[in-house]
Amino acid sequence: MKILITGGAGFIGSHLVRLFVNKYPNYTIVNLDKLTYAGNLANLTDIENKPNYSFVKGDIVDATFINKLFADHQFNAVIHLAAESHVDRSITNPLEFVYTNVIGTVNLLNAAKELHKADPSKFTKFYHVSTDEVYGSLGDTGLFTETTAYDPHSPYSASKASSDHFVRAYHDTYKLPCVISNCSNNYGPFHFPEKLIPLCINNIKNNKPLPIYGKGENIRDWLFVEDHARAIDVIFHTAALGSTYNIGGHNEWTNIDVIRLLCDMMDEKLGRPKGTNQQLITYVTDRAGHDLRYAIDSSKLQNDLGWKPSLQFEEGLSKTVDWYLQNEEWLTNVTSGAYANYYEKQYSH
Ligand code: NAD
Ligand code: DAU
Repeated sequence: MKILITGGAGFIGSHLVRLFVNKYPNYTIVNLDKLTYAGNLANLTDIENKPNYSFVKGDIVDATFINKLFADHQFNAVIHLAAESHVDRSITNPLEFVYTNVIGTVNLLNAAKELHKADPSKFTKFYHVSTDEVYGSLGDTGLFTETTAYDPHSPYSASKASSDHFVRAYHDTYKLPCVISNCSNNYGPFHFPEKLIPLCINNIKNNKPLPIYGKGENIRDWLFVEDHARAIDVIFHTAALGSTYNIGGHNEWTNIDVIRLLCDMMDEKLGRPKGTNQQLITYVTDRAGHDLRYAIDSSKLQNDLGWKPSLQFEEGLSKTVDWYLQNEEWLTNVTSGAYANYYEKQYSH
């Protein structure tokens, strides 16, 4: 089994690559990543020399390159995570999200379609990793299910919704063997410090303001990243073709409560008097089109495929903070930009 994982140098992709490389020594894992600002090969140092792993630097928007890669490697399956993933960046530069998230996905679908047409017994799965943001925003009650109508609000979620529609269209039109999952907010090690939790961990550490959009009352449903990777593993191996699964931890928090918890936890871990870090909380202008609430009903995944989250939020957050405090070099390299040289040092000779 030769599997292409796209976006494997990013946050979730690196956890998935690590899981597959270690758990399935008989699989060959090819990690394709453009190494944008969000891609960091230092996320994968522990597995980079394993015999069943290789890295390819490349852009999914480049159709000629993608077609050649598929022809050369004859992949048996694709797990597609490569994307522009930050909502705030999509507000300032929507086109980049159309190129990578929509056109990049269609390029991969086209290349997969050719392999499947040539030998359907050899190309067996196109797994598209998507987000709960495609469903839009909830009010005070209710949960997103797999049949909730799509209603994206940001350029990011609109581009992910579009890519999901293309994946379903290729399944229905060309009988491409596709599976989609839509997951809630992830957190954990290797999270790029532009997203709420790692940004605030880094700012607390450095005594900098913690920017809370609006009143901090928006709600997100947080899942530890390794639980997402385990869910992808289960879905990849057991879900019916053409199916969709929601992934989430039944773990809703307002942003302000997450940050208060983080402040208190880090007071203790950094030996600061209780209440010190909460003084860093700063309310700032709200995000445009800010979705109020996401909450996932993952009962289909739990009942059909037996997956469940492994960690309580407090435990996962504590593990995450410890990881950031113990991996100061990773964080410094990311915030200084030095991580961008890792590829040159490691691969280009
Ligand atoms: P990330 O931004 O950390 O990583 C994205 C990776 O894709 C990076 O390594 C980047 O270099 C690579 N990439 C970007 N453009 C590329 C291109 N044109 N060609 C090749 N590689 C490219 O993202 P993440 O948070 O790990 O998210 C991974 C996937 O999971 C995305 O599809 C995202 O929509 C989805 N998702 C994320 C979350 C979350 O909470 N982070 C939740 C649900 C779903
Ligand atoms: O729901 C899944 C999605 O979760 C993924 O598809 C996205 O790729 C991922 O980035 C994430 O999107 P969010 O916009 O929910 O994540 P972010 O960490 O950017 O923001 C979380 C919440 O915190 C959101 O309500 C906005 C708020 N926020 C964010 C930042 C960066 C702040 O209040 N201040 C901030 O500085």
